Amino acid sequence: DHGGLTDQYGRVATDLRVSLTDKCNLRCTYCMPADGMDWLPGRQLLTAEEIARLVDIAVDDLGVVELRLTGGEPLIRKDLEDVIAGVRHRHPDLPISLTTNGVGLDRRARSLRDAGLSRINVSLDTLCPETFAALSRRNLLERTLAGIAAADDAGLAPIKINAVLMRGVNEHEASELTGWCLARGYELRFIEQMPLDADHGWRRDTMITAAQIRALVEQDFALTAHPAERDGAPAERYHAVSRTDPALRGTLGIIASVTEPFCGDCKRTRVTADGKVRSCLFSHEEIDLLHLLRGGADDAQIAQRWRQAMWLKPLAHGTDSPGAEGLDASGYVQPDRSMSAI
Ligand code: GTP
Ligand code: 5AD
Ligand code: SF4
Repeated sequence: DHGGLTDQYGRVATDLRVSLTDKCNLRCTYCMPADGMDWLPGRQLLTAEEIARLVDIAVDDLGVVELRLTGGEPLIRKDLEDVIAGVRHRHPDLPISLTTNGVGLDRRARSLRDAGLSRINVSLDTLCPETFAALSRRNLLERTLAGIAAADDAGLAPIKINAVLMRGVNEHEASELTGWCLARGYELRFIEQMPLDADHGWRRDTMITAAQIRALVEQDFALTAHPAERDGAPAERYHAVSRTDPALRGTLGIIASVTEPFCGDCKRTRVTADGKVRSCLFSHEEIDLLHLLRGGADDAQIAQRWRQAMWLKPLAHGTDSPGAEGLDASGYVQPDRSMSAI
């Protein structure tokens, strides 16, 4: 019973995403509710040692070649440097990346890099303080911007910026965000909003589609297909050049999870902050590894459970099925966990 994380449709997961906490210091409307979240009890969170062991198993026994640390907001973990150093110590060449909202990154970018972090993706949906406060329900734009600048200073390149575009909220900033990122050498990715928000407010008819994002950006930038191989990555990449300033150029990505799904090429396996394997962002099933870790199971037993969990990975998420509409979808049913808890 050896081998990698293969599913019944022949996909092989080689990209591991580990959530470090379900908590966050923002409350983005497309992710979390304004209040009323029940946090996981602290003792149920994977410790730095447990994460290091899971990564060992993933890399040594299951063929994982890449690690991303996520949340909630991973910077909430005071021991994030220890988590990274613990993995890096055993896996000198493993790419380790972090997805963060950047709040608090200004003080930790250097220590994260010193601990062994390879690169970073920062969520930034707007450059307007009022819009940031409305969208994330916290007035912290300056902290995020300071975090991005510090990551840049610390050499955590390439920096990728994630922006979820929402109708009537930040769609008018598509050009400004593009120019801001290109000028700094950051790779901006516009993301279609997915129905994973705690408030179940997602609506097909108000979401901004990849086609609409392209049209918005193309008002001010010429887009051509990026030559690099996509290789299962969620972002379709373009080469963008400003129509008014040809020196303003670089890479831009669009992540079209809903209208142009990439499930067929998915290479991801996920572990939640409380140690459960999710074969997909949209899974309804979870397989618990925490009780195995804490119950004295050996590596081979944990690896086997993980393989079983991934074998059942769904073929597609169904958000693109017509009529999919929050909870009462005809085809799509939103998972119990909202994005921050995945
Ligand atoms: P890179 O390796 O830098 O390309 O990272 P990434 O884009 O995979 O990771 P990141 O955490 O920055 O996620 C960016 C966006 O990708 C998320 O907001 C999601 O919209 C999308 N995404 C991430 N994982 C999945 C997934 O498993 N399925 C789908 N459909 N979308 C995903
Ligand atoms: N749809 C699309 N992207 C989302 N994110 C959080 N919730 C959603 C959603 N419902 C994004 C964040 C972050 C990334 C990891 O996921 O903006 O950049
Ligand atoms: Fe926090 Fe990220 Fe969710 Fe916003 S999207 S509430 S920053 S976890």
